Amino acid sequence: MGDSRNEFLIRAESLTRIYEMGESRVIGLREVSLDILEEAFVVLKGDSGSGKSTLLSLLAGLDRPTSGRILVDGRDLAGSGPDEMTRYRREMVGMVFQSFNLMPTLDVMENVCLPAFLANRPARAVKARARELLDWLRLDHRRHHLPAQLSGGEMQRVAIARALINEPRIIFADEPTGNLDSRNGELVIELFRDMNRVFRRTLVLATHSQMADSLATMVVTLRDGGIVRPSWES
Ligand SMILES: Nc1ncnc2c1ncn2[C@@H]1O[C@H](COP(=O)(O)OP(=O)(O)OP(=O)(O)O)[C@@H](O)[C@H]1O
Ligand SMILES: [Mg+2]
Repeated sequence: MGDSRNEFLIRAESLTRIYEMGESRVIGLREVSLDILEEAFVVLKGDSGSGKSTLLSLLAGLDRPTSGRILVDGRDLAGSGPDEMTRYRREMVGMVFQSFNLMPTLDVMENVCLPAFLANRPARAVKARARELLDWLRLDHRRHHLPAQLSGGEMQRVAIARALINEPRIIFADEPTGNLDSRNGELVIELFRDMNRVFRRTLVLATHSQMADSLATMVVTLRDGGIVRPSWES
């Protein structure tokens, strides 16, 4: 066995998430174990309610498991305090959602820069990086537009720029093409391919897109909160 830190970036050990609502308990995830290698392109699949969003939220540090551990770079995320969780989300993680989640009163440039300003990074460098990202995403001419003035595909590209502004090592995306037509969906998947292959980021993507399958280094299928075996890894 080598140095475990070189083998995986994220290791989930027996993750369980139970949602308690009054008397009733809903199992979101049951005993899920998973190793995600650095620079992997992981595609999460499964029917509605199978646990994809629950798993993404736990791995991204947006939620805590009822039991189990999440090791990121060898450190236990589930056992860390709120400040450390915030730092993890801000510095290590980028997130992209189905519904874009842009701030409606901020323009494109401000939306993209926001996570970097929250992390107290110097404004000049942040703005220069935002311009580069918006150029790459062919959105430079939209810099001073509000989200409501953009198409769905453009909004999702802004969300992608925002996810990348802090140079995260891991990008989590929950059905990022779910609200897009097929052409814009394909474009977004191509951007994820470039993030993985050109910018060498680790990606974990819940998606129904067939196109993502051919790019995946690992496909994980969930059913009723558990992993269906065999999932495959290349
Ligand atoms: N906040 C919550 N409170 C109670 N139950 C929840 C909550 N979030 C998820 N669940 C339940 O946990 C299970 C897994 O839900 P989850 O959202 O992870 O599924 P999903 O695979 O992302 O589904 P979809 O494809 O519809 O997005 C479902 O039974 C769901 O009803
Ligand atoms: Mg979901």
